Amino acid sequence: MFITFEGGEGSGKSTAIKKLEQALINAGKKVLITREPGGTPISEQIREVILRKENTSMDPWTEAYLYAASRRQHVIEKIKPALEKGIIVISDRYLDSSLAYQGGARGLGIKEVLTLNHFAIDGLFPDLTIFFDLPPEEGLSRISHNSNREVNRLDVERMAFHEKVRAAFYELKTLYPERIHMIDASLTPDEVFAEIEKLIPDLLRK
Ligand code: TYD
Repeated sequence: MFITFEGGEGSGKSTAIKKLEQALINAGKKVLITREPGGTPISEQIREVILRKENTSMDPWTEAYLYAASRRQHVIEKIKPALEKGIIVISDRYLDSSLAYQGGARGLGIKEVLTLNHFAIDGLFPDLTIFFDLPPEEGLSRISHNSNREVNRLDVERMAFHEKVRAAFYELKTLYPERIHMIDASLTPDEVFAEIEKLIPDLLRK
């Protein structure tokens, strides 16, 4: 079972992942939590290149290839071997982040970025993808509330970008209705977790 979590800043996905990990362990399951970009030493090194602040001149396709390269290493070195041992793998972001951020928000095209990722995922689509849906303003206000930070011009620009990311996830949901499930991330952490439990009752049973 391969489960991926998707969603923007301040959506509460990391809290939910921790809760799910604990619930699965309590049910006697073996679980591996991982993340993208990253998850293996090589993938983490690629992550540093992608997210380094000075790399402002990075071409969108270069960015898409780097995410895909990082993913390929992650799939081959970590995710597939764990799945073969019967371990439940949960990844904080995966393929759909590339489809939404690079394909949708950066405008490269969802189909085109999926084609680029063909060899990266090596046939491995998630069994279940949980998308934490939240208006970008709300995600941002949760973050600034935490750090007492004021909202600046860049944040506003980022908001327009995150609106596009969100729109792309809605499109992905229509492309993969069986696989992608949306959760209203404005609910409380307990309510969010109750929604997750409904999606995988069999896994959470001892
Ligand atoms: P990270 O700090 O891990 O984000 P978060 O805590 O929001 O999950 O940074 C990852 C960033 O990379 C995030 O803004 C989403 C972006 N991203 C892509 O644009 N494409 C991808 O394929 C992936 C995996 C992430």
